[in-house]
Formats: sequence, structure tokens, C-alpha cells
Amino acid sequence: MRTRKQRCEESRFCQLGCRRRRWKLETAVLLTTAILCLLLLLRIDIQNKKSQNTTDKPKFKPEPQTSPDLFLRSANKCERNSSASNIKGFSTLPKHIQDFLFYRHCRHFPMLLNIPGKCGGPENSSDVFLLLAIKSSPPNYERREVLRKTWASERLQSGVWIRTVFISGTTGDRFEKKRLNKLLQLENRKYQDILQWDFQDSFFNLTLKQVLFLEWMERFCPNVHFLLNGDDDIFANTDNMVQYLKGLYDNDGSKHLFIGHFIENMDPVREQDSKYYVPVQVYESDKYPPYCSGGGFLLSRFTSRTIYNMSHSITLLPIDDVYMGMCLEKAGLKPSSHMGVKPLGLNIPSVKLDPYSPCYYREVLLVHRFLPHQIFIMWNEIHRQDLVCGKKALSEQNDTNM
Ligand SMILES: *[C@@H]1O[C@H](CO)[C@@H](O)[C@H](O)[C@H]1NC(C)=O
Ligand SMILES: *[C@@H]1O[C@H](CO)[C@@H](O)[C@H](O)[C@H]1NC(C)=O
Ligand SMILES: *[C@@H]1O[C@H](CO)[C@@H](O)[C@H](O)[C@H]1NC(C)=O
Ligand SMILES: *[C@@H]1O[C@H](CO)[C@@H](O)[C@H](O)[C@H]1NC(C)=O
Ligand SMILES: *[C@@H]1O[C@H](CO)[C@@H](O)[C@H](O)[C@H]1NC(C)=O
Ligand SMILES: *[C@@H]1O[C@H](CO)[C@@H](O)[C@H](O)[C@H]1NC(C)=O
Repeated sequence: MRTRKQRCEESRFCQLGCRRRRWKLETAVLLTTAILCLLLLLRIDIQNKKSQNTTDKPKFKPEPQTSPDLFLRSANKCERNSSASNIKGFSTLPKHIQDFLFYRHCRHFPMLLNIPGKCGGPENSSDVFLLLAIKSSPPNYERREVLRKTWASERLQSGVWIRTVFISGTTGDRFEKKRLNKLLQLENRKYQDILQWDFQDSFFNLTLKQVLFLEWMERFCPNVHFLLNGDDDIFANTDNMVQYLKGLYDNDGSKHLFIGHFIENMDPVREQDSKYYVPVQVYESDKYPPYCSGGGFLLSRFTSRTIYNMSHSITLLPIDDVYMGMCLEKAGLKPSSHMGVKPLGLNIPSVKLDPYSPCYYREVLLVHRFLPHQIFIMWNEIHRQDLVCGKKALSEQNDTNM
């Protein structure tokens, strides 16, 4: 834009010079004008090249063109901390833990996909009652598709807005990575619901993903009332969540709330072959603070922003749900349990009863580990007008087809 304007001014300058030349017919003037024009033209040329280079740089601009956004490009490449290898016993640690220690300090990564207007801009973000932030790896296309059609669909529910973002990093090498990035681009073009950063989307980077999301929320959606943070394989009864949250008589999001499946007195797993293995080099204490298991938890704007604030001064721990607990503890806040959150699935008392009877799921807030097709069936079943529940109805369901 600037160069075009300048070019315009410059051509006017040249014309002026040309007229002068006609009036005065002095070679000196002619020469200086010519040289001036030449110099300016050269400068324009260089500037054009430069601006071409910078506009070419961010290859993955978000589809809806927004104003150039520092946030997207801000991060420089984060250098690996090679002195991590001096930590005692480093060489005996599994590869992914070594990797974690090398890059543990990295908290800023370039954004590949953004939706700055997701909440209608920061000022208007209080129009969003419940923001669903769902951790999803690039290949989990089917899960996202089903969620968009079911519990995560953006909608006006009981008079308040639900909005959704899927949060993602990158996976795969070279061609596969490119292909999967393309997939997310396509999805974002169609649905406007993907946030993607350029970091490796691995289990041990889930905390990084969480912190990047909280930073994003602080900037783009600071005033949403409540937040559901969860995985893409949960069944969340978002109707009930809205009902429950609206029913909190003294909390509109401006006070503490953090509920989920509450866990306390948990020790770090010290067995090398476990997925959750955390050696003393990563976490020294032999107790985790109280936390809610990571399948999904529901929190207020106040609590989410407080956690974000605390995270600045707490070293990343690879286990994301425990890390949230550490942030809460530092802020002097407590997570709590809610009966409706069932991370381990429902405990149906009798084999005669169908564990997937919609009557159970009609009442819950959140259940962990559902397959995409199960989510689709269940969401439709619990919304059936003619769904009859109760003791008798439940037992009848053992031989009718749901
Ligand atoms: C543009 O970028 C290329 C490659 O990054 C570089 O070789 C070239 O010198 C740059 N040109 C300018 C004008 O900055
Ligand atoms: C690099 O690792 C060493 C050893 O753990 C640590 O003392 C240091 O603070 C780390 N540096 C950064 C920048 O995180
Ligand atoms: C916020 O909402 C008002 C009223 O709907 C609108 O005029 C304004 O443009 C919105 N602000 C942003 C940043 O979108
Ligand atoms: C986390 O992501 C960064 C950036 O892609 C990567 O360098 C690092 O190895 C990842 N860490 C783990 C433990 O996967
Ligand atoms: C977080 O920190 C910022 C700046 O330090 C402060 O303005 C804000 O009130 C804090 N928010 C919470 C919820 O603690
Ligand atoms: C449920 O299953 C049991 C055993 O298969 C059967 O006896 C019973 O008739 C079925 N229906 C009801 C309503 O209990």
C-alpha cells in the first residue's frame, strides 16, 4: 500500500521536473531531475522486492484475510537447550523425554491457522457463553466432523451462544505434514473452527497446546463466560452444561469454577514403559497437586485467565491436566468434582442393561472415550422426542433397539 502511494507521488514529482525542464532548458536541472527519478525508481524497486519477500513469508495465512497480525508470525524459531543433556541421568531417559527436556522452555510458535473473529472480537466476546476448546490432532478428521454435527455444533442454546474451536499442532513429516496442514486449511475455510500452531502435536506437547490456547483466548476471547476444555473423543452433553452453568446463581464466569473428574493424592508414574512416565528430572516431587483428569473440564473465564497468568511462572510439565492443577494450586484455587463427569465411562450396574442407553447419557455432563459413530448415535438418541426413561423403560431397553 505504502509503495503504491509513494510511486504515485514519485511520478508526480517526475512530471513536475519535466515541465520545469521545458521552461528553463538547463541541462543541470535536467540531469539532477533524471538522476533523482532514477534513484527513486531504484528505491521503489528494492522496496517492492522487499515487501514481496515479507508477504510471501507466512505461507499459511488464515483463510479469512485479516489485518497483518504480529501474533501469527511473532515466534522466532525456538532453539533447543543443549545444556539439558547435562542433567543427571539424561542419557538413560527415553527419547521423547529427552526431547521434552530439550524444548521445554519453548512457549511460542508461529500460528498457521487463526480465527481472530471467533468470539466477535475481544470486546464483544462476552456474547459467547460457552466456548468449546477441543484438542484435536490433524489426522482426527472424522472426530471433528462428527463433533461439528453433534455436541460441539455452534448454536444458540437456551438463549446463549456456544462457539467451538479445535486446537491443533502439526504431525507427520514433509509430504504428510503438508497434506494434513492442507486438510486443516480446507476445514477452516469451510467451518472457521481451527486454531493451529507450528509445533509437533504429540502427547508430551499437550501442555504446550493448552498454554498456547490460553494465550490465544486471553487475546481474542477474553470475556467469554465459560470454557469447556476437552479431548475430541469425549461425549459432552453441552445442552446440560449450559443448563448447569446458567443455573449457577452467583457465578457468571467472573468467579472461580473448575470442575471435572477430581483426582487427588496422585503420584507421578515412575515406570519407564508407561505412557505417563515422568522421571524426577522432569518433576521432582513425589506427589501431584489435586487436579481434574484431562478428558474434559469445565471452567470459568476467571479461572482460565488466572491459570494462564500462573502458567508464566511455572515450568511446563508434559502431563497437561496435572499442569492445570499446578497452576490452580499456585493461585490458591481448588478444582472440584461434578457427578456428571465420567471420564472412565459409566458404571452400569447390570449386564442386563444396555450401557449405551441414552437414558444414562441424557443426564451426564461428560463421558470419556466415545467412538465417532457412538457420539453420533447418542447425540441423536438423547434428543429423541419420544425418549422415555425411568426404571421400567431402562430395563425394557435390553431387547428393543435403543
Ligand atoms: C528474498 O528472499 C530470498 C530467499 O529468502 C533471498 O535470497 C533474497 O535475497 C530476498 N530478497 C530481498 C530483496 O530481500
Ligand atoms: C537449559 O537447561 C538447563 C538444565 O536443565 C537449565 O538449567 C536452563 O535453565 C535451561 N535453559 C533454558 C533457556 O531453559
Ligand atoms: C461489537 O458489537 C457491536 C454491536 O453489535 C459492533 O457494532 C462492533 O463492531 C463489534 N465490535 C467488533 C470489534 O467486532
Ligand atoms: C514439542 O514440539 C516442538 C516443536 O515442534 C518439538 O521440537 C518438540 O520435540 C516437541 N516435544 C515433544 C516432547 O514432542
Ligand atoms: C492476570 O494478569 C494480568 C496482568 O498481570 C491482570 O491484569 C489480570 O487481572 C490477571 N487476571 C487474573 C484473572 O488474575
Ligand atoms: C430383558 O432381558 C431379560 C433377559 O434376557 C429378559 O428376561 C427380559 O424379559 C427382558 N425384558 C425386560 C423388560 O426385562
